[in-house]
Amino acid sequence: MEFTKKLDEGMSRRSLLTGAGKLALVTAGAAAVSGGLGFMSQAEALGGPTEKWPWPYVKLDPDFTAELAYKEWYRVFCGNAVISSIFGQLREKVGEPYKSFPIDGFVFLEGGMAGWGTVCGSNAGANIVSNLIIGPRIAGPDCENGHQIGSEMMQWYSETALPTFTPKEPKQKTAIIQTTSNSPLCHVSVGKWMDKAGFALASAERKDRCARVAASVAHKLVVDLNAWKDGKYESKATWTPGKTFGITGQQNCNECHGSNIPTPPQAKK
Ligand code: HEC
Repeated sequence: MEFTKKLDEGMSRRSLLTGAGKLALVTAGAAAVSGGLGFMSQAEALGGPTEKWPWPYVKLDPDFTAELAYKEWYRVFCGNAVISSIFGQLREKVGEPYKSFPIDGFVFLEGGMAGWGTVCGSNAGANIVSNLIIGPRIAGPDCENGHQIGSEMMQWYSETALPTFTPKEPKQKTAIIQTTSNSPLCHVSVGKWMDKAGFALASAERKDRCARVAASVAHKLVVDLNAWKDGKYESKATWTPGKTFGITGQQNCNECHGSNIPTPPQAKK
């Protein structure tokens, strides 16, 4: 709490690391992190101005990761499954900071965030993973790709017939059809699939479809992260959310507005 308060007061990194700031940081670190981490590691685990990016990443196998995500969906649901399938492996292969990261803290991403059908949790999980590994865009140009991989996942998710991934041992033997959502939203994605497939939200088939969608996203995310690790990730973005249209949103405005797309105020002037 003390640490957050100091940050809110706008303390610089320098002042945090001297005098009262340092004391507050050490106290907060000791309370939040148990074990034998050094001072800087404690501060890093807490977050704040001492954070460093990228986090250590070793290339993972996309197929193996997708199988893990598929299984994890049945434990922690879509968003958390994307996170745990990747961070769980990095915990074993790399150790910190993944060991201190609360992997199971993201179950709330299910159902488009606590059941509200907003962004599909798989997309949210992918953004969390790419931004934590590579870094947030405010951390400088080296970290841009963290944001970009997350943003482009939403576009890929919207434009692709999902799920693309079929597990080796599916829990449901019924054929799971693919649908294109034209939206990164859980409500739209699940709704269009349910409409075409004819299965209800509570059906075993719908659940297996969402498990496969999470696995599809985890697969694509690892492909992108591996390319980034090799210095070969290239942005395919054709638009900048917010800037191109003067409002945040999916670019296919007519999906919801029909032909009567309202003009955002600054574009009117
Ligand atoms: C997922 C559905 C959806 C998409 C896609 C979408 N909107 Fe909207 N938008 C809404 C809803 C719902 C509202 C609030 C109700 C309304 O005004 O229609 C809204 C409101 C707005 C408003 C402010 C209210 C108004 O009527 O002036 C503007 C401006 C707007 N949208 C522009 C856009 C533009 C431009 C795009 C494409 C870049 C877009 N929207 C894409 C659903 C959507």
